[in-house]
Amino acid sequence: MDKGYTDLHSHILYETDDGSGSLEETINMIKALADAGFSASCATPHNIPGNDNILLLSKSREKIRIIGETLEQQHIGYTINTGAENYFDASLEIKNPDYFIPLGNSETFLVEIPFIGETSHHIDALHKTGLHCIIAHVERYMDIVQNPDKATVLKQAGFLLQMNFGSLIGVYGADVMKAAHVLLKKGIVDVIATDIHDIHHAGPILKKGMKRLETLLSPVKVNQVLRDNPSGILNRGYATAASESKE
Ligand SMILES: [Fe+2]
Repeated sequence: MDKGYTDLHSHILYETDDGSGSLEETINMIKALADAGFSASCATPHNIPGNDNILLLSKSREKIRIIGETLEQQHIGYTINTGAENYFDASLEIKNPDYFIPLGNSETFLVEIPFIGETSHHIDALHKTGLHCIIAHVERYMDIVQNPDKATVLKQAGFLLQMNFGSLIGVYGADVMKAAHVLLKKGIVDVIATDIHDIHHAGPILKKGMKRLETLLSPVKVNQVLRDNPSGILNRGYATAASESKE
């Protein structure tokens, strides 16, 4: 059933990095998303320093066009936006000033930082770029797993925070699950997304994750993290989305 949810983090583009292996798998992933209430996604393949990001974006657009045609033939209404999971490590020099790929036509960037080490080191450097960023799967960084309070610092620095569905049900281990529950309770998570890479994980993550989420958050809050905030980021801009999600 379409609940107007938007998935801001996914690897649904076929034959792209470690995501979907085929067009057929992509279509099945989208069907699983649609069953869970989603009507739109951002395809966010990994963008890493040294990548040809212009080529990545043009290949993404071509694949999104082909996926769109296939969905239309099957009478499935679903919107796919461009995007990327931009890797940022303070110690790596980014030579290309246009390195970061935004989510759709927005001016917001999904950013992944290194899993190990102090998050503050990377976050300070990211802050200096002046970009509007949403931090990917905030609950998965070791530093935050050990001390979830550190996520508040990221939030106070002005970043939006994204959590993965899988973390809610222990896909990344018990410690990450515990951190995810703490962060949800704190009310500092702006967006929950799937980060799905293949069809095998898509179904169980969406079904179990959705059930767990509904036990942890009120229906209003569920709509905020799955519908209002992600679509707000895509359509109304970062500043509006950031201020709305503070309410
Ligand atoms: Fe990802």
